[in-house]
Amino acid sequence: MLEVPSPSATHAPPPAEAVAPLLRGLDVLRRLTDADGTLALAELARATGLARSTVDRICATLAHLGHLRLDGRDASLAPPLMAVANACLDALRVPELLGPLADRLADELDESVSLAVPDGDEIRFVHQVLRRRALSISFRVGDPLPGEGSAPGLVFRRGTGPAVDDQLVEPGLIAVAMPVRGASGEAVCAVSVVSHTSRHTAEGLAEAVRGPLASCVRAMEDVLRADADATGLRPGPRSANAGGADSAPVRALARGLSVLTVFSGGRPALTLTEIAEATGLSRATARRALITYEHLGYVRRDGRLHRLTPRVLALGCAPLSRTTLPQIAGPHLAALSETLGESVGLSVPDGSDGEWTWCTARVAPRRVMSVDIAVGTRLPAGATAAGQVLAGAGEAVADGPEDGLWSVAVPLRGRDGRVVSALDVTAHRGRGERTAWAAALRATAARIEADLRVTSRFVAVPLH
Ligand code: PHB
Repeated sequence: MLEVPSPSATHAPPPAEAVAPLLRGLDVLRRLTDADGTLALAELARATGLARSTVDRICATLAHLGHLRLDGRDASLAPPLMAVANACLDALRVPELLGPLADRLADELDESVSLAVPDGDEIRFVHQVLRRRALSISFRVGDPLPGEGSAPGLVFRRGTGPAVDDQLVEPGLIAVAMPVRGASGEAVCAVSVVSHTSRHTAEGLAEAVRGPLASCVRAMEDVLRADADATGLRPGPRSANAGGADSAPVRALARGLSVLTVFSGGRPALTLTEIAEATGLSRATARRALITYEHLGYVRRDGRLHRLTPRVLALGCAPLSRTTLPQIAGPHLAALSETLGESVGLSVPDGSDGEWTWCTARVAPRRVMSVDIAVGTRLPAGATAAGQVLAGAGEAVADGPEDGLWSVAVPLRGRDGRVVSALDVTAHRGRGERTAWAAALRATAARIEADLRVTSRFVAVPLH
């Protein structure tokens, strides 16, 4: 299921057929990922060694494609890029198939649990269940660790477990990992139980988790075997296209990136013909993109079949997998506030009794008199349109939350269709018009929901 790219892949000069705009675009995305999602354009030019004008052009292209945001001098990764990591996580199958069992183990042990796969000389996390503690461990989905200095790395090196990380990665951090074998006997991933020296010694942790960890591994191996048996029943590839392109480098980069997102859990290995069909690209164009990816270690070819490697997670996954709802919504709220010239915000339920709402994001226009509700403000749910929406109203209008104010609110739904938040505009009575405001709110809610859907496919998005 998983194959390791050759470590030398990225050091050789690119082959003549590699697509230059794609090479540069991928370099920019990788540098932004290493910098935790945001870099000044001048820094990007320094890091990539490209001319500033080239960096500006690449970033404008990536922004046009929705993969990054330009904000003054800074470029930041944007949620739609998570579709690339999602394709990789989906094609790997590990998070979907084994994630629920990892979650169960974390509950049973009350410790953090992670799943990691080999990626050349490194390992990469593909699933994390964190236990909130004062001392919290903060590797994210997509983060790499060195192969030698971590429990999962030792598992892949030795081919057996348990392997113990006694503060190899960080002082105080301890972990015990076991391999999970696929149907043909290869170690597909490592499951780690992670704790801290304030709770256990490394040997003590290994001893305490041995039984539950071994049963979890057996259950995971059963799932992988059942999945291998069912492989013949998988659906065909989804179609995709490189739309929205309007100049040659934009087109080359857009087409190249579209190749990554045709892989999926249903189709983890594809032939050139299948990739060309699914992307709508010519065979020649798809082939050059694949040559580029293979050179960089993002795609591995095995006879006629191509597969994504976990290195694809180096394209934005770690920073984007920790994005919160206010971060996702921020740029959309700013645009809406600017359009309406009013204060707009997001509320989520505060506590479980439905009596209060919590303001999780707010953007107010700069004007002499505007509504100023601070993030973190709790308001009685009955007194606001947002509160009524969270209570189940499809759309609401209310006076309040103070005399002389009124608000209109619409729901914001998560992947499962449940209302997770309410989007409102709040203004002085006498300003605005309900129908127009509701339409603008709904359009913005749809944009935030689209970003939320792609971000929350494999990770939970905190609401504040
Ligand atoms: C983690 O999941 O954070 C983790 C796992 C194994 C290690 C270190 C950290 O060796």
